[in-house]
Formats: sequence, C-alpha cells, structure tokens
Amino acid sequence: MALCSFLSVLLIHITLFVSLCYAADPFVNYEFEVSYITASPLGIPQQVIAINGKFPGPTINSTTNNNVVVNVRNKLDENLLIHWSGIQQRRSSWQDGVLGTNCPIPPKWNWTYQFQVKDQIGSFFYFPSLNFQRASGGYGGFIINNRDIIPIPFGTPDGDITIMIGDWYTRNHTALRKALDAGKDLGMPDGVLINGKGPYRYNDTLVPDGIEYETIEVHPGRTYRIRVHNVGVSTSLNFRIQSHNLLLAETEGSYTVQQNYTSLDIHVGQSYSFLLTTDQNASTDYYIVASARFVNESLWKRVTGVAILHYTNSKGKAKGPLPDSPNDEFDKTFSMNQARSIRWNVSASGARPNPQGSFRYGTINVTEIYVLKNKPPVTINGKRRTTLSGISFVNPSTPIRLADQYKVKGVYKLDFPTRPLTGAPRMETSVINGTFRGFMEVILQNNDTKVQSYHMSGYAFFVVGMDYGEWTENSRGTYNKWDGIARSTTQVYPGAWTAILISLDNVGVWNLRTENLDSWYLGQETYVRVVNPEATNKTELPMPDNALYCGALSKLQKPEDISLATSIMGRSRLFFTMLMIVCALIPIFR
Ligand SMILES: *[C@@H]1O[C@H](CO)[C@@H](O)[C@H](O)[C@H]1NC(C)=O
Ligand SMILES: *[C@@H]1O[C@H](CO)[C@@H](O)[C@H](O)[C@H]1NC(C)=O
Ligand SMILES: *[C@@H]1O[C@H](CO)[C@@H](O)[C@H](O)[C@H]1NC(C)=O
Ligand SMILES: *[C@@H]1O[C@H](CO)[C@@H](O)[C@H](O)[C@H]1NC(C)=O
Ligand SMILES: *[C@@H]1O[C@H](CO)[C@@H](O)[C@H](O)[C@H]1NC(C)=O
Ligand SMILES: *[C@@H]1O[C@H](CO)[C@@H](O)[C@H](O)[C@H]1NC(C)=O
Ligand SMILES: *[C@@H]1O[C@H](CO)[C@@H](O)[C@H](O)[C@H]1NC(C)=O
Ligand SMILES: *[C@@H]1O[C@H](CO)[C@@H](O)[C@H](O)[C@H]1NC(C)=O
Ligand SMILES: *[C@@H]1O[C@H](CO)[C@@H](O)[C@H](O)[C@H]1NC(C)=O
Ligand SMILES: *[C@@H]1O[C@H](CO)[C@@H](O)[C@H](O)[C@H]1NC(C)=O
Ligand SMILES: *[C@@H]1O[C@H](CO)[C@@H](O)[C@H](O)[C@H]1NC(C)=O
Ligand SMILES: *[C@@H]1O[C@H](CO)[C@@H](O)[C@H](O)[C@H]1NC(C)=O
Repeated sequence: MALCSFLSVLLIHITLFVSLCYAADPFVNYEFEVSYITASPLGIPQQVIAINGKFPGPTINSTTNNNVVVNVRNKLDENLLIHWSGIQQRRSSWQDGVLGTNCPIPPKWNWTYQFQVKDQIGSFFYFPSLNFQRASGGYGGFIINNRDIIPIPFGTPDGDITIMIGDWYTRNHTALRKALDAGKDLGMPDGVLINGKGPYRYNDTLVPDGIEYETIEVHPGRTYRIRVHNVGVSTSLNFRIQSHNLLLAETEGSYTVQQNYTSLDIHVGQSYSFLLTTDQNASTDYYIVASARFVNESLWKRVTGVAILHYTNSKGKAKGPLPDSPNDEFDKTFSMNQARSIRWNVSASGARPNPQGSFRYGTINVTEIYVLKNKPPVTINGKRRTTLSGISFVNPSTPIRLADQYKVKGVYKLDFPTRPLTGAPRMETSVINGTFRGFMEVILQNNDTKVQSYHMSGYAFFVVGMDYGEWTENSRGTYNKWDGIARSTTQVYPGAWTAILISLDNVGVWNLRTENLDSWYLGQETYVRVVNPEATNKTELPMPDNALYCGALSKLQKPEDISLATSIMGRSRLFFTMLMIVCALIPIFR
C-alpha cells in the first residue's frame, strides 16, 4: 500500500514535471500588424496586404516543440483570421484560424495566437484565410527546424531561402470577390509574382520597364536549402532555375527520397524544399522561373514569374530565353508521373529520432471511406457556387468548435455523405463525422477541367495513389502502401482522382478544402469533426482564455480582452533547477 501510494505520488510529480516542461519549451514571439500598403508589383499601383509594412510578411522561424506566440493586429477594414497552413495544431483546432473553429478578428482588434509546433519539422506558410484576402497578399513562410538531437538526412545547408510564388491579379481582393459574387469567372491572372515582386525584364515587349524584381544572392560552391510555396489564387506553377538541378529534399513536413529535378510542378497551396548546389561558373546571373502550367501559351499573354539568382562572383546579367518549361501544356501525364515520383524517405528521422516509416500506414485497416467529388461551378438558388459531393458549404455564423463547446444546437449537420449526392446540388453546413483513432480513406475525384489542390488542417495524410478516370474499388490495387508521401496538400488532376489515407488521432474540427481560392470562396470545402468520446483533457487542449465569441454567442464577448499569458517566472530557484534537470532527461521520450 505504502509503496503504491508512494508510486502514485511519484507519478503525479512526474506528470506535473512533464506538463511544466511543456510550458518550459522555448517561446518564439511575433508581432503582426496587418495593414494595406500601396505596391505596384506588376507596374500598376494597387492595395496589397502587408505584415509590418512588408509584402510578403516575415518568415516565422521556429524549432520543434517551440511555443509560437503571434499577436495579430488587424488594421484592415474587414475581418481577419491568419491560418497556419500545414501546422498541425496538435490537440488545438482553436488556433487554426479558419471560420469553422475561430471567430474572426474584427477591424481595429488584436488577437494573440499561441500554439506549440509539436512533433513537426519542415516548410509551411501562413496566410489570411477570409474574404479572398490571400489574393492581395498577407502571406509569409513558416519554418520548423529540427531539434539539435534529431539528425537530418542531408548536410547542414549553408543558407536557408524562402521563396513565395503565385499567380497575381492587378485587381484587389475586394474587386475579385465582387466578380465572384456577381457570378463571373475571374479570368486569367495578370502575371506571376516571386516574393511579392514582378518579373525581371526577360522580354522587353512583355515586361514594362521599371518593375522591381527579386534577386537572390548566393556564394559559389555552396549548398542552399530553398523553400518554395505556391501561395497564388488558382494557377499551378512550374518552378525551375536556369542551369541548376533542384534536389528535392522535403515537402510539407516529410523528408522525401532525394532526387534531382530540372523543374517541378508546384500546385496552389503546396510547399517544397530543394537543395541547390551553386556549382555553375557564374559567367552570367541565372533565371529563377515560376511559369503557369497547363495554359494555352497563345492565349496566356501574361508575364511569367522571373527572379534572379546572382552569384557573388557573377560576371554579367542573365540573358537569352528563359529555360524551357515541360512542353506538354495539354498532356498532364508527365506532371502526374512526376507527382508519383515524389516518395517518402522511410528511413530518415522526422521530428523524432525514429524513422518516418515506423508508422506502417499500409498495414492499417481503413475504418471509413469518403469519395469526395468536385464539379464545375453550378447555379444554386440563383447563385454561382462550387460543390464537393453535391454540397456547397456554407460557413456558420457560430464556429463549429465553439458551438460544440457551448452546446449550441442547429449550427451544422454531421451528415456529410460518404458518396457524392446524385440529386440537385444544395447549400449546407454539412460536416464529416470523423471517428477518433479511426483510419480514413478519402478519394478526391476531380470532375472539373482545372487542377485542384486539396488541403486538410490538423493532419499530414498519406498520398497513396492518383490516376485518370473514375476511381473504383479496383483502383486500390495501384496504391503505394510503402513510401507514399505524408503531406497536407495534394493536387488532383482534372478527370482524375487522388487517394489519401488519414489517421484521425488529432481531436478537433478540421478544415478540408480546395486551395484554389475561387473554388474555395464559392463553397468547395467541409470540416472533419474528430471527438474523443471519453471525457478527458488529455486529447484536446482547453479553449483558450482569449477566445473570441460571435454568432449565437456574441453576447459573451467582452468589449476588450486584456488577458495576459501566465508566466512561469518567479518560481523558486530550486524548483526551477529540478525542473530543468527533469526536462533535460525527457526529450527523448517525446
Ligand atoms: C480595391 O479596388 C477597388 C476598385 O478598384 C477600390 O475601390 C477599393 O478601394 C480597393 N480596396 C482596397 C481595400 O484596396
Ligand atoms: C532560425 O533561427 C535559428 C536560431 O534559432 C538560426 O540558426 C537560423 O539561421 C534561423 N533560420 C532562418 C531561416 O532565419
Ligand atoms: C534517406 O534518409 C537516410 C537517413 O538520413 C539517408 O541516409 C539517405 O541518404 C536518404 N535516402 C535518400 C534516397 O534520400
Ligand atoms: C517577347 O514576347 C513576345 C510576345 O510573346 C514575343 O513575340 C517575342 O518573340 C518575345 N521576344 C523575345 C526576345 O523573346
Ligand atoms: C543531383 O545533381 C547534382 C549536380 O547538380 C549532382 O552532383 C548530384 O549527385 C545529383 N544527386 C542525385 C541524387 O542525383
Ligand atoms: C560557363 O558555362 C557555360 C555553360 O553552362 C558555358 O557555355 C561557358 O562557356 C562557361 N564559361 C566559362 C568562362 O567557363
Ligand atoms: C490555343 O488558343 C488559340 C487561340 O484561341 C487556339 O487557336 C488554339 O487552338 C488553342 N490551342 C489549343 C491546343 O487548344
Ligand atoms: C485488418 O482486418 C483483417 C480482416 O478483417 C484482420 O484479419 C486483421 O487482423 C486486421 N488488421 C489489423 C492491424 O487490425
Ligand atoms: C458519429 O460517429 C460516431 C462513431 O465515431 C457515432 O457514434 C455517432 O453516432 C456518429 N454521429 C452521427 C450524427 O452520425
Ligand atoms: C465528369 O463525370 C462524368 C459523369 O461521370 C463523366 O462522363 C465525365 O467524363 C467527367 N469529366 C471529367 C473531366 O472528369
Ligand atoms: C478539463 O479542464 C477543465 C478546466 O480547464 C475542467 O473544468 C474540466 O473539469 C476538465 N475535465 C476533465 C474531464 O478533466
Ligand atoms: C494588442 O497589441 C498591443 C501592442 O502589441 C498590446 O499592447 C496589447 O496587449 C494587445 N492586446 C491584446 C488584447 O492582445
């Protein structure tokens, strides 16, 4: 008995220490002032969304297990939420920054996000998730470095470079929104930006004089890690650097089998890390190119994204034609084969010392299957809308997670169909009922004529297959059950399907959406609600003290919320020393 109670007291103490260590993980703090600035990336002045006066915003630089605190001040004239794309928000969909989980930050308010980047490494990005704002900027990179004790599957790079690429309109997000609300198509974008800047003047006819372009300076004979994110509206881009190989190393938090590519297709919302060796003779600068994919070149009379790779010993300006893009505008087979060639390095360590492939996803039995089918836009109740499985999602005025917390009834329906509806499409707040600790298979079937990319919050999923035609049960025979990549955003080619597997181990309400902004804006999304039936605080963090209220709960909102984060400072030195010793011993278990 005595031993038993001694042990349980010990256990309580260890638990206490572990939870304090969690609090003792380092903090990284950022202040984000989000406002409009005037910029002319394509030579025409327009209002863009800046963070701390900069477009793109600062790169968040963190390390696994860091507590990230971002105080967001909304100086726009409309609501704001920042979404951390690919950051898994373990146990806390409260911080995800999408309308299903958070009330928006009203103009003139600030709200402080606080979350731990748990068990992740890799290259991610953030962006404003409401009202088409991403089309006006407001985005930036988000790096999670490995902890020192975790080896990475390549030598430490000599530098780390973030590159944001994306299609761009000279109309601002309010104008684009207005077009969509009026049932119009957005038409062709006006160009492609690299790091918020227009193209280097690669062609005097196409590119007007005086446009500011991006220059990336490198030293010869080194290796750089370059992290490339497609943050555009809806265009798949081909990324390449003249005369250089791109050694693919990581995508959205997973190390890949390392392979050289002369160019890689990066679809909207996707992130990749390449290792770039500066092994050329620097007789000139080199072009860095992000060009639109699958467009009719005789119609796409738009500028391509062109930046400059400048060696410190460069002997002259970049000149001549841009390096060739894959010459297959209307045949996506090359692109699909390239996507299939991106595989998981199962023996590399991820965020933990154990191999990435120690979770044998191919041997786990699927517990639920959803076929999600998108179609070209339709008219519902006189409005142009997009659908997923025949449902056009309507965001509730009370976020789903908040409604659950306060038991507000009738906010949403847990009835998202497992197979596409065959009747007339409809507008609904219809949500997927995910089973906690279930293993879900989702088939994304693209019946539209454009590439779509799909993203899920809260998880990395395994991309196990993609092919043309309609998915059938027999398609499972082609699945990669061994080294399919784990990531958070996958492309689905038109007239084709992509199959993903998701281990539903993260409690919360998670957005599943297309990344193509126009399709998303018009309703192509849903949420997956994952609830632990057991009443415990271990699988989900409590609602943050500063949570905003809106919709049916708006009367709970205080006019000003001035809650301060509690500090662990001021505890006794002895206690702190003991804590440090225990903390130093446990990282290996986490
Ligand atoms: C966006 O563009 C419209 C039309 O050009 C203009 O009236 C409006 O002021 C702009 N809004 C913002 C927020 O820049
Ligand atoms: C991130 O911060 C670490 C130090 O914590 C530093 O070594 C590294 O160079 C930084 N990375 C970038 C891309 O700024
Ligand atoms: C996979 O990771 C291991 C362990 O870090 C590394 O030694 C190996 O080179 C990597 N393999 C490939 C093909 O990238
Ligand atoms: C510049 O672009 C125009 C229009 O696409 C094209 O006709 C012309 O050949 C290009 N010039 C050069 C030097 O490539
Ligand atoms: C990739 O290309 C570089 C030359 O740019 C070469 O040195 C390296 O061996 C190649 N790596 C692989 C894995 O093919
Ligand atoms: C540099 O390399 C290019 C090919 O990449 C070659 O055409 C050129 O002659 C080389 N210049 C010198 C000075 O070696
Ligand atoms: C590209 O557009 C031009 C001009 O509309 C058209 O004549 C041509 O047939 C198109 N090419 C393809 C392959 O669709
Ligand atoms: C998966 O299902 C099969 C057949 O239903 C069963 O024999 C097997 O034990 C299951 N595997 C696991 C890991 O649960
Ligand atoms: C949701 O799924 C759980 C099992 O995970 C089941 O118990 C529950 O009845 C389902 N709810 C609805 C509304 O279908
Ligand atoms: C869309 O679905 C219909 C009916 O299944 C099929 O006939 C058509 O080929 C599909 N189109 C695309 C682009 O997938
Ligand atoms: C969870 O934590 C809250 C306070 O944060 C507490 O009120 C509640 O009783 C806890 N629930 C359980 C099941 O421990
Ligand atoms: C808002 O930001 C200001 C300036 O950083 C800070 O002093 C204040 O505490 C913040 N308020 C809230 C509610 O986070």
